[in-house]
Amino acid sequence: MARPLPDILRIDWTTGAEPSAAVLAAVDRAAAVLREGGLVAVPTETVYGLAANALDPDAVAGIFRAKKRPTGNPLIVHVADEPQARRLAAAWPPAAATLAAAIWPGPVSLVVPKAAAVPDIVTAGGPTVAVRCPAHPVARLLIERAGIPLAAPSANRSEGVSPTTAQHVLTSLGNRIDLILDAGSCDRGIESTVIDCTVTPPRILRPGPLARSAVEAALGGPVAWPEQGGGDRPVIERSPGQGRRHYAPTTPLELPNDPAGRVAELLAAGKRVGWLVLTTLEAARGLAASRELVAVPMPTEPEAYARQLYASLHALDQRQLDRIIVDSPPAEAGWAAVRDRLERSGSPG
Ligand code: TXA
Ligand code: MG
Repeated sequence: MARPLPDILRIDWTTGAEPSAAVLAAVDRAAAVLREGGLVAVPTETVYGLAANALDPDAVAGIFRAKKRPTGNPLIVHVADEPQARRLAAAWPPAAATLAAAIWPGPVSLVVPKAAAVPDIVTAGGPTVAVRCPAHPVARLLIERAGIPLAAPSANRSEGVSPTTAQHVLTSLGNRIDLILDAGSCDRGIESTVIDCTVTPPRILRPGPLARSAVEAALGGPVAWPEQGGGDRPVIERSPGQGRRHYAPTTPLELPNDPAGRVAELLAAGKRVGWLVLTTLEAARGLAASRELVAVPMPTEPEAYARQLYASLHALDQRQLDRIIVDSPPAEAGWAAVRDRLERSGSPG
């Protein structure tokens, strides 16, 4: 029998203000669902997460089922503060202590040795656990009121585009989950920076909102980067969710060398094309008369681009297009996280 659609509870809460009785009632309902082993979509400052009680293996199994996520891909555990993170860790490396003090709450996940209390299903059987203390007030209140750490991957079907609104969650996971807390759009728009603190120097496993330079400034020393070798295992094994195709819309996506030329070619072949326009505004204007083209001008600054990226991909995915063409972002350090996500969104081959 099909499950009903999840309840969507809207949260109207101005940052800095005390939560109203209505906000507390909504968050407490979500906390009760979590304590009973259910699945709740929760806004964070990066993307919406699909949360379950991290200490309950059956609840966590529900996440893998709902997302159709391969069980070899471990989950990030969300905590209210550093002491709660330490209780999930068998050891707390100096780099983790430094980064937690400097950056939490914030968009950074720290990989540390796992404590026995963390069920194996959370870490895909591995010896480490990723922990993150999110900055979003709704996520923080939910963790506090539930009184448990929350395992939460992005709230989308496995390999799809992460959700930055409650509507994206509903479209992707619909009747597969129990409840959605809707607090509007996510501020950062792409997933957290994942840093392996079990190696020296620490290694960025997934670029994210906190840039490499900011991680190095916080640590007062260098960090390793995904492409660099030197680890004892291949990077893909060390962060299994970093397989090449990931974050992909249903519509095939390309990052061609000559986007304007490629768009013109596709239109001439009778294809319907979406185009994320960054560097080719003039060319896009020239082709904009075509009814078969949906051109989306993107922000020229990386934080703003990241904030809008997934919403733009979700919107284009709803338009029954044959292809999405994306202008390549600049090859500069500040664009590393956006470039990473776009390269993983591309069609294989
Ligand atoms: O911003 C975020 O990180 C969002 C919000 C909800 O917090 N979460 C998120 O989770 O993006 P997910 O599951 O979509 O991505 C988690 C990434 C995957 O690439 C996974 O392989 C990696 O973190 N990861 C998790 N635990 C790990 C571990 N113990 N060692 C190495 N990589 C790990
Ligand atoms: Mg994900």
